[in-house]
Amino acid sequence: MRTLRLGPLELETPVLSAPIAGFTDSIYRRTVRNLGGCGLLFTEMVWAGGWVQGKIDPSRLDGVEEEARPLGVQLWDREPELIEEGARRLAAMQVSLIDLNFGCPKKRIMGRHGAGATLLRDPATVGKLVAAAVRGAGSVPVTAKIRLGPSLAAPTATDVARSIQDNGAVGITVHGRTADQHYGDPCHLDLIGEVVQAVSIPVIANGDVHDAPSAVRTFEATGAAGVMVARAALTRPWIFREISAALSGFTVPPPPTALEQKTLLLKNHAAMVEREGDPRGTILMRKFACRYIAGAPGTHGFRDAITRARDAADFRDIVERLFPLENDAAGTTIEPLLQERACG
Ligand SMILES: Cc1cc2nc3c(=O)[nH]c(=O)nc-3n(C[C@H](O)[C@H](O)[C@H](O)COP(=O)(O)O)c2cc1C
Repeated sequence: MRTLRLGPLELETPVLSAPIAGFTDSIYRRTVRNLGGCGLLFTEMVWAGGWVQGKIDPSRLDGVEEEARPLGVQLWDREPELIEEGARRLAAMQVSLIDLNFGCPKKRIMGRHGAGATLLRDPATVGKLVAAAVRGAGSVPVTAKIRLGPSLAAPTATDVARSIQDNGAVGITVHGRTADQHYGDPCHLDLIGEVVQAVSIPVIANGDVHDAPSAVRTFEATGAAGVMVARAALTRPWIFREISAALSGFTVPPPPTALEQKTLLLKNHAAMVEREGDPRGTILMRKFACRYIAGAPGTHGFRDAITRARDAADFRDIVERLFPLENDAAGTTIEPLLQERACG
C-alpha cells in the first residue's frame, strides 16, 4: 500500500483532493470522504487578510472545526504577518495541514492583491510567506501549491520550490501549467519532474488526472510522491478510490450505480438546503448537480433542467423524473463553466 508522509502527517494514500473555490465546501468534502480513497482533503482557498481583518464572510471555513481529519486549509495573501496570523488561527482549530496558494491566475488575486501566481516571479517573497506560515502554524505542517511559473518563458518553479523548501514547508503541489496557460494547454509533466529533482521534500503532481490510468501515468512521468485531483472529482467524486486501488494493484472498484448517485445527489441537496435555506440552497446545488454526472451518457437533458430548478421541491422532482436520462448526450464538457472560478 503506497502512503505519503508530509512532515508529521502520514496519509493513507498519496491521492489528494484539490482546493476548488466555490466547490470544496463541507458537503463536498463529506461526499469525497465517504466514497473513500482520498488521502487528504482541502478547503477552497481562504484570504488570510480578509479573515484576520474581518472583511470576509468566514463561510469558507464552514465545517472546518467539526469535521473529520485529515483536513488541509489553504490560505492566500502577500503579507507575511497576515499569513502568520491566519496560520496561527488555523493551528488553534487543529487543522491537519496549512497550504499556501502561489498558483491562482485570477486577475483579482494577481493584479489587485499581487498574490497567487504573481508571486511566482518572486521566490524570495514566497520564502518569507512560507516562513511566516511556519511560525504561525507551530506544529502543524505547512505546504505550498504552485504553478510552473508566470509563463513558459519564465519557468520559475524550481527556484520557487527551493525557496519553499528552505523556509520550512514539508511538501509542494505543482500544477503543471504556467499562470498564463490557465487551463488551456496540456500539463507539462516533464517540468513537474524537474521540480521533483530540485527538492528533497515530497512533490505532489497536479493537472489533468481524470482517471486511474492518467494518475499512474502522472506518477511515472514525474516521479512525484503524490497526485492531486481537482476537476475530475467534481464529476466523479469516487475517482479517489479508483486511483488508490490502481496504485495498490487492486481491482478498480466500479462507480456507484445510477441509483446510488441519485441518492447522493438528493442527500447533498437536502444538506445544502438545511445549511443555506431554500431557494438559495437549491440554487447553490445546481452547479454540483450538473457536475456530478457531467459527461455521462444521457445527462444532457438533466443538466438543462436542473440548472433551472427553482426550489427544493422542483429540484427533487427533476431528479426523480430525469435521472439518469435517455442515452442522447455523451461527453458534454464542464470545463468552460469551471474556468469562471478557477484559482490555481
Ligand atoms: C473552479 C476552480 C476553482 C479552483 N480553486 C482553487 C483554489 O481555491 N486554490 C487552488 O490552489 N487551486 C484552485 N484551483 C485549481 C485546482 O486546484 C487545480 O490546480 C487545477 O484545476 C488543475 O487540476 P485538475 O486538472 O485536476 O483540475 C481551482 C480550479 C478550478 C477549476
